Amino acid sequence: MKNIGIITSGGDAPGMNAIIRSVVRTAIFYNLKVIGIYEGFKGLYEKKFVELDSRSVSGIINKGGTILKTKRFYEFKKKEIREKCYENLKEIGIEGLVVIGGDGSAKASYLLHSEFNFPIVHIPASIDNDIYGTDYTVGFDTAVNTAIDAIDKIRDTATSHERTFIIEVMGRNSGNLALEIGLVCGAEIVIIPEKKIDIDSIVEEIKEEAVRGKKSCLIILAEGAGKAEELSKKLNEKLPDREIRYTVLGYIQRGGSPTYLTRKLATIFGNKSVELLIKKMYGYMVGIKGEEVVYIPLAEVVNNSKLPNFEYFEYIKKMAI
Ligand code: F6P
Repeated sequence: MKNIGIITSGGDAPGMNAIIRSVVRTAIFYNLKVIGIYEGFKGLYEKKFVELDSRSVSGIINKGGTILKTKRFYEFKKKEIREKCYENLKEIGIEGLVVIGGDGSAKASYLLHSEFNFPIVHIPASIDNDIYGTDYTVGFDTAVNTAIDAIDKIRDTATSHERTFIIEVMGRNSGNLALEIGLVCGAEIVIIPEKKIDIDSIVEEIKEEAVRGKKSCLIILAEGAGKAEELSKKLNEKLPDREIRYTVLGYIQRGGSPTYLTRKLATIFGNKSVELLIKKMYGYMVGIKGEEVVYIPLAEVVNNSKLPNFEYFEYIKKMAI
């Protein structure tokens, strides 16, 4: 193998640039040429290529986003589009591809590998931490830390005014991010798509907390489990004596300089992905289990779901007494 390609796809995540840097420099270390593909699989379809040398990835380890840009490219679900992408890879001379992205991108990696037998290694990068086979995705730690920073500030005003705050965080299909944030921000209630709570139970919970002397309350709501605005209206109706406010954290969770843990994971995953291609270990995702780097077949990754750690609800309950 002489030429490898690198692509970032789907929602961006902090640490994607640190992965690009790691992949490019590891590849150059092993005398491989690296071709960057702009704008995700859309860019692959449209042949947006650039050669990346060692200096082209200077000064990006600390930068959020992705220098290669990214797109959601739903057309990739069509076989003829994937065929064209495969043809484009061959035409430019890419012999192995590192794909950086979340669960949707892992499916794209799996399809390209299984349908065309194309040499692919996937690196999990997503703020959602919802990819089967790895304890952590690149970017998750940074997103949690961004939320901590914001929610600690909200806590100040919530406590001062003795208000109940609903904080909507990202996670369309998965509650992993919300649950982790709830645990480390000291939330009283966490609502996620995998475990929704009916309005009367929330009201009951808030009332019980008031009896225990809690005058303010933090509710973390994953966007996939409902809208903060709606929930706050409903709670205001049911609890007219309480002051209910809400904040939607939104896209700030996707940006910013990657944390220590995100950079470390990015650098290790980038290294290992290139080494897998060199060893002809194709069709794997690089992951981490405890302290150990693991390689999971993409078929296993895409055919399983990562469930939230429901034990967290127990911790949250105990911490809210
Ligand atoms: O997958 C990451 C994520 O930020 C989710 O948490 C969120 O639901 C979704 O992407 C938002 O997608 P988009 O960037 O298309 O608005």
